[in-house]
Amino acid sequence: MRFVDLFAGLGGFHVALRRLGYKCVFACEIKPHLKALYEKNFGLQAAGDIRDVGIEAIPDHDILCAGFPCQPFSKAGNQEGLQCLRNGTLFDNVVEILDARKPEYLILENVPNLLRHDKERTWVGMRQSLEAVGYQVDDHRLSPHQFGIPQIRERVYIVGCRSGLGEFEWPKPTPKTETSIVSALDKHPPDARQITPQVIACLNVWQRFIDRYPKDVHLPTFPIWSMEFGATYPYRDKTPYKAGTRALCWYKGSHGAALRDLPADGRMLGLPSHARVAQDRFPDWKIEFIRQNREIYANNRKWIDRWLPEILRFPPSLQKLEWNCKGGHRDIWEYVIAIQ
Ligand SMILES: C[S@@+](CC[C@H](N)C(=O)[O-])C[C@H]1O[C@@H](n2cnc3c(N)ncnc32)[C@H](O)[C@@H]1O
Repeated sequence: MRFVDLFAGLGGFHVALRRLGYKCVFACEIKPHLKALYEKNFGLQAAGDIRDVGIEAIPDHDILCAGFPCQPFSKAGNQEGLQCLRNGTLFDNVVEILDARKPEYLILENVPNLLRHDKERTWVGMRQSLEAVGYQVDDHRLSPHQFGIPQIRERVYIVGCRSGLGEFEWPKPTPKTETSIVSALDKHPPDARQITPQVIACLNVWQRFIDRYPKDVHLPTFPIWSMEFGATYPYRDKTPYKAGTRALCWYKGSHGAALRDLPADGRMLGLPSHARVAQDRFPDWKIEFIRQNREIYANNRKWIDRWLPEILRFPPSLQKLEWNCKGGHRDIWEYVIAIQ
């Protein structure tokens, strides 16, 4: 069968349908770098903005695929829905193409919130538009991790058929299987860079931090900023900038170093770089990260004070750790894929 790939992005639909032996006869994608990638991967030059593509440029096809832009419906966006001028009306372009070319099948994809948006009115309206141009449609939420692929990314999939969906069945998630990121990685990526000896040494220092962290408490999922261990500079109601360099002599900066030991005009340099901004107040997220890091220090001071000197020999960028494997094994090297 022939298919069109609208809002083609990286070509997820293309990969799937090509695997079934189908042929892509048209694609469109607005972003130049994605168009270039599409051509490199699939040898097909995608058209640009769908709003500028005349219907006559779209050849006859059997399946219309469209992952229409999801920001207007995404929980992460501002949920303007169809009112969103930039993206919200792109669905109408899809309906227009369906009406003109009448492909037998359609497959659409979007964020799951599309179904709930505007008390479900948005999806009901879209569904009616698809039915009005001749399709029986069905929707279902699925995520790759339900099929053995190591990614949790729930999406709503919408299928439609002009002659009815008949016995169509949604794929059933495979029984619970362990997924691993290793299954999605190249064994020998040509552009892989070696971890430098400095980073290896620093990760070993962080491993010692993790080893000492109380076993009965989850490791933090917010960034661990070791520079906040021992720091006392003001951060809640005012920033060090607002407090002024004179007042700073009463406080401690990065890793608890006394700021009074620094000349007044160099005192700001004794602070972590995230605290050196010329603002009267830090944004809430920064206040919260600083508070949480100081709390870690207050609760674990005994062993952190012994560990702290080890981290001082590394540059500030390595004095931070983000542990994104909550509940996972507390072994950094388990997550480092390969060292040569
Ligand atoms: C949700 S993504 C689609 C993902 C795609 N199915 C894939 O496998 O990568 C939506 C895509 O639509 C593109 N897009 C946004 N507005 C567009 C427009 N007016 N015309 C064509 N493409 C557009 C975006 O650049 C983005 O790549």
